[in-house]
Amino acid sequence: MHSKNYFIANWKMNGDAKDLQNISKVEKYLKMKKNIEDLECVFCLPFTLLGFAKSHFKNSQIKFGSQDLSCKTADYGAFTGSISAQMIKNLGCKYTILGHSEVRAEGDTDKLIDKKIRFAIQKKLKVILCVGESLKEFKNKKSFGKVKRQIYLALKNNRKSLNNITIAYEPIWSIGTGIVPNDDYLKNFFIKINDFVKKKFKKKIPILYGGSVSHKNISNFKKIDLCKGFLIGGASLKSKNFIDIIKNYYN
Ligand code: PGA
Repeated sequence: MHSKNYFIANWKMNGDAKDLQNISKVEKYLKMKKNIEDLECVFCLPFTLLGFAKSHFKNSQIKFGSQDLSCKTADYGAFTGSISAQMIKNLGCKYTILGHSEVRAEGDTDKLIDKKIRFAIQKKLKVILCVGESLKEFKNKKSFGKVKRQIYLALKNNRKSLNNITIAYEPIWSIGTGIVPNDDYLKNFFIKINDFVKKKFKKKIPILYGGSVSHKNISNFKKIDLCKGFLIGGASLKSKNFIDIIKNYYN
């Protein structure tokens, strides 16, 4: 059996109900293209849109996810402003992004991420765990050390759940900048992550790339065997850009 290729849209703090038509267009395209059954297409939307998505996309090939969830409890409680794993599950979501650098920048820590992973898995949500180094760390050759630590701290207490976790390597300096690490560097970095995970956890976990992915650079990533898909921010907002990414990848 072929492993999956993940195309995960991260809409961040963008989109209103009217923008769901972009997802309808992607859905239509995927229905037409029957020969890409290894593709797993996920839209991680703001909380405000997940309920709309549930009623719009019944029995769709497209799956949905949140971009974070509460570290307080997996269920319900007096936590003003928080959304729990159970609530996200009730909205029909299959996935959640956790540990995105933009959430880490707001105070999300490795400890909280560890807890959130547990809550997500408890509610049968699959986790897309984001890791990545800053520009300063990259320049100081600290990239792998940083990523290794983030992965270890997120997974060490979640060893039994590894089948439901995907790692997204997202260098912070690449997010939204149009700058993408070069192919050889990335190929080597993916090998290092894969070896580390295999050694520490005796398991192969799919590794995705995120950071300025577009229809222009997507074919470069095909050279990286270990890259099992993409977390796509800016280029996932408009159906044409997102469809062009899928088209150019499979061409
Ligand atoms: P970008 O964002 O594609 O806009 O660089 C990716 C991400 O932050 O997940």
